[in-house]
Amino acid sequence: MTHQKEEEFQVADIPNLSGYVAIVTGGNSGIGYETTRELASHGARVYIASRSKTRVDAAIKAMKTGNSGLDIHFLKLDLQDLQSIKTTAEEFSQKETRVDILINNAGVGLPQQI
Ligand SMILES: NC(=O)c1ccc[n+]([C@@H]2O[C@H](COP(=O)([O-])OP(=O)(O)OC[C@H]3O[C@@H](n4cnc5c(N)ncnc54)[C@H](OP(=O)(O)O)[C@@H]3O)[C@@H](O)[C@H]2O)c1
Repeated sequence: MTHQKEEEFQVADIPNLSGYVAIVTGGNSGIGYETTRELASHGARVYIASRSKTRVDAAIKAMKTGNSGLDIHFLKLDLQDLQSIKTTAEEFSQKETRVDILINNAGVGLPQQI
């Protein structure tokens, strides 16, 4: 029995995401950075949920170089602080009525309260 190699999903395969709202945890560096930039480049409004506004703002500035129309925002989140997670959810629900794409990217150990 022969198996055909499945085609790999490419960035070019991402559809038009205009009107979609996404959250990427830890979107200010590494895999999350690339994911955020590609989702936004395809039209999504993306919230980078991460703990440092300074690092997120720097990442957004870099992503917008050459593409100032990207719709990317900071959402304060520290996954090691359960109260912060609740506050983040409340803050997000005041800004948006929907979330279409949730990328749980940020690496985290056990929250301190557990
Ligand atoms: N890179 C790989 O080869 C690889 C392989 C297998 C799995 N992974 C997984 O893929 C994910 C991303 O990896 P990466 O290499 O891109 O990581 P990275 O460059 O270290 O980025 C991690 C991101 O998570 C954020 N983060 C860390 N702790 C957080 C917390 N308590 N609350 C909120 N945000 C937090 C960081 O924010 P700060 O800037 O504030 O630190 C950063 O934006 C991780 O879950 C990792 O375990 C990666």
